[in-house]
Amino acid sequence: MIQLNVNGKQQRVDVEADTPLLWALRDTLLLTGTKYGCGAGLCGACTVHVNGQPVRSCITPVSDVAGKKISTIEVADNTRVGKAVQEAWRKLDVVQCGYCQSGQIMSAVSLLNTKKHPTDADIDAAMAGNLCRCATYVRIRAAIHEAAKALA
Ligand code: FES
Ligand code: FES
Repeated sequence: MIQLNVNGKQQRVDVEADTPLLWALRDTLLLTGTKYGCGAGLCGACTVHVNGQPVRSCITPVSDVAGKKISTIEVADNTRVGKAVQEAWRKLDVVQCGYCQSGQIMSAVSLLNTKKHPTDADIDAAMAGNLCRCATYVRIRAAIHEAAKALA
């Protein structure tokens, strides 16, 4: 049994210590907003926050995050920044198939938590590990600028 703090709740998960956090979230806690893409830390679909930092949950063993604060897309709109990001996403109609988007949003929230007015270069650097097969990159960048403006 591993004790996890997920979305503000203490949860006990009955998995092996080396189980990737992604599977504890999806299969044990049924938080299916976090997606499986590559399983190798390369696409960003599985991004969650651990102590406020973006983390690839597919390559993070649960034992590494026991006792840390884990947040998933399910609570992303509980914060002012998260809400602004999701509103901008809707306003600019960013989403195409949607598969990559929970990871994109978690990375965008993390960027705006640390940089209030990111430049295009800041955005490209922060979002470089989040791939989108539908190529929504231009709208993602515009939506991050839009969210930054709304938060100013
Ligand atoms: S599924 Fe985790 S980075 Fe691709
Ligand atoms: S919206 Fe389809 S993969 Fe990104």
